[in-house]
Amino acid sequence: MSEKWTPASWRSKTGLQMPTYPDAAALEDVEQRLGVFPPLASAGEARKLKSKLADVACGKGFLLQGGDCAESFAEFHPDTLRDTLRVLLQMAIVLTFGAGMPVVKVGRMAGQFAKPRSADTETIDGVELPSYRGDMVNGMEFTEEARVPDPERLVQAYNQSAATLNFLRALTQGGYADLHKVQRWNLGFVKDSPLGERYADMASRIQESLDFMAACGMTSQTTKQIRETSFFTSHEALLLNYEQSMTRVDSISGNWYNTSAHMLWIGERTRQLDGAHVEFFKGIHNPIGCKVGPSMEPDELIRLIDALNPDNEHGRLTLITRMGAEKIGNVLPGLIRAVEREGRCVVWSCDPMHSNTVSAGGYKTRHVDAILAEVKAFFQVHKSEGSHAGGVHFEMTGKDVTECVGGGQAIKEADLSERYHTHCDPRLNATQALELAFLLAEQLKEDRMAEQVRVAG
Ligand code: PEP
Ligand code: CO
Repeated sequence: MSEKWTPASWRSKTGLQMPTYPDAAALEDVEQRLGVFPPLASAGEARKLKSKLADVACGKGFLLQGGDCAESFAEFHPDTLRDTLRVLLQMAIVLTFGAGMPVVKVGRMAGQFAKPRSADTETIDGVELPSYRGDMVNGMEFTEEARVPDPERLVQAYNQSAATLNFLRALTQGGYADLHKVQRWNLGFVKDSPLGERYADMASRIQESLDFMAACGMTSQTTKQIRETSFFTSHEALLLNYEQSMTRVDSISGNWYNTSAHMLWIGERTRQLDGAHVEFFKGIHNPIGCKVGPSMEPDELIRLIDALNPDNEHGRLTLITRMGAEKIGNVLPGLIRAVEREGRCVVWSCDPMHSNTVSAGGYKTRHVDAILAEVKAFFQVHKSEGSHAGGVHFEMTGKDVTECVGGGQAIKEADLSERYHTHCDPRLNATQALELAFLLAEQLKEDRMAEQVRVAG
């Protein structure tokens, strides 16, 4: 960490992808107000997540991170939150069974409102306006007025995040996440799914395991781990004015923590070594992530790791690779070798969404097959390199949207217009997300069995 790090030291660096607010005084006023709002996540919770991620980094756990590309003010509804949580829980139980290890659940929820954009402006019918940058910045409607960055939106995002997190805590601690209940949903999914037979075997073996545990006396009544689960929040920390306001000294450790979420990540477009985002992340003690796209060079990655995790603290840094199904096989091995050679401890997670985006009939979409291909390649490369494929990062929703094509429902490009609701990138719907979890779990289980045979032999 540079000697003079402060929560504000990012201000002397170049910060890409951040809006220019026309009214600086209004922004400052909002920052002051946010600065005395209660933390959303505590330092203690962030430390708990970091220690779980340290296990993942050591090959003793698996990270499942997922949620909306962009949360929105308009879609703020308990059903939407509950449905997304439900699918994440359903995926987690299947992955736990497949991987034979704990699955750390982290939502892209309760703060994922700000979006980096590839173009600063958008032109429709010859009219050019500033791009929409997420509900935390400006409005999606294509009018000059809506597209002006408004700092009051930071306050609204805070309030929505607070209510979201409160609801998530209530659900995960209040019985909604009970393993028996989650398993019943999965059995229902298998029964109704067009490809259900493929998943039936795994679902029934999970059921057998739960029955066995119950017979041994481990039920929802007797065992907290069956009744409750831990769930963490994360978002891309893009708007540093907001993130700075939420950054506080923890009274126990004396360290700075960003209390806007448990985990924060740096996006692919803002990970410049000398940039404002990297500077800000250097001083916060949360577990952090950094997106790693196909242009990353091994040396550059090591320098970035040095900057973000100079003490090589386990669980501190998750590298979220997003290479694209075609490029991952060429790029990832060199990066893994550099990290291994330098003895750096990281969690490797696969975001198979952001380099597999294509356009079709005026819609941005993603093919489930390409998503699966990137994840499979990710596992394959890690297996060959002898490193741990530590997790997956999905853009998904619990709703039955038609934004990604393919999967058991065989959504076609012509179907996209039916229920295309995303505020930014196309998300997997509930069925597609769960199907992917089953396919992944199958793969994880096969690999685990092969490894056991290898060790025994
Ligand atoms: C995202 O996660 O929504 C995103 C914009 O990703 P990336 O920074 O990898 O492009
Ligand atoms: Co996205």
